Amino acid sequence: MIGSLNHVAIAVPDLNSSIQTYQTLLGASVSDKVEQIEHGVTVAFIDLPNTKVELITPLGHESPINNFLKKNPNGGLHHICYGVKNIHKSQRILVKAGAKLIGDGKPKLGAHGKLVIFLHPKDFNGTLIELEEI
Ligand code: CO
Repeated sequence: MIGSLNHVAIAVPDLNSSIQTYQTLLGASVSDKVEQIEHGVTVAFIDLPNTKVELITPLGHESPINNFLKKNPNGGLHHICYGVKNIHKSQRILVKAGAKLIGDGKPKLGAHGKLVIFLHPKDFNGTLIELEEI
């Protein structure tokens, strides 16, 4: 089921500062900032040869990142995303196996316009897992 690493998302309290750190300390190529109002985040993408890292910061009071930053004021690893070929099939297999999915567990359009589901960190050593149909 599991495919390639799609992205790693890091929640940050100050996006401009984080972009600058990646650019100046690591020489990273970072995209322009993208506001994703429907997901309550502003994102910048760090392009790497084999994957990408997303720096995400809250956009608005309802942002799903707000709680995370309350617990982790300096930011931190928010989730890891793996690609899967068939998100509906993956979802059925996971539910049948007893995995805990976030929300109602139904695939929804994610931040890249593709269908995603999120798996609860309790099954994955404290790491929130996103699966994205590729
Ligand atoms: Co993601």
